[in-house]
Amino acid sequence: MKFFLDTANLKEIQEAVELGVLDGVTTNPSLMAKEGIRGLDNIMAHYQQICELVDGDVSAEVIGTSYEEIVREGEALAELHPNIVVKVPMIREGVKAIRHFADKGIKTNCTLIFSAGQALLAAKAGATYVSPFVGRLDDIGHDGLQLIQQIVDIFSNYGYPTQVLAASVRHVPHLIQCAELGADVVTCPLNVITGLLNHPLTDKGLAAFLADHKRVNG
Ligand code: G3P
Repeated sequence: MKFFLDTANLKEIQEAVELGVLDGVTTNPSLMAKEGIRGLDNIMAHYQQICELVDGDVSAEVIGTSYEEIVREGEALAELHPNIVVKVPMIREGVKAIRHFADKGIKTNCTLIFSAGQALLAAKAGATYVSPFVGRLDDIGHDGLQLIQQIVDIFSNYGYPTQVLAASVRHVPHLIQCAELGADVVTCPLNVITGLLNHPLTDKGLAAFLADHKRVNG
């Protein structure tokens, strides 16, 4: 399973790189805005910086919603760095653009997936990744993890190469259940990844080991 960090924060990305477990990064316009990145040149420069930090796929999202805009933006993003994956929203024009990018060998991440049908359509169009949003489905009283199960099963039935990238993963149990269900990738904030470190018995056990060592060795 691949671990992607869902952030545009360079410090957090560096921290995850140093932990040695980071496979990629996903961003979106909200995450870029959160870091105060504004203006096309600054946005492109920021993506470049992220790509230089991470040895793996970096999703950069288009803003346009027409086929022409998505293609133009996506091609410019793809030229920026070989790590770039063009993130395209699940809309009619987006699906057409995903087919265009697939035919040109440009990797895509189809985002804002909330149903198995949307995931199937994106896979048919040749998306590299689909991003079902687990937490946002839970937020409205649906079962986000059930959607992960459905998509994993459908892709496996037909051998689609499209990877299931579980997004909007909010906490450790989400991540673990995505792993149990066979999601190819999870993307989440850094605290979810570092949350995997924690167990009270580890802390208690280590304290006892160190105390015993000190008692005998001084
Ligand atoms: O990047 C998309 C997704 O991961 C957003 O998560 O927590 O804002 O629903 P969240």
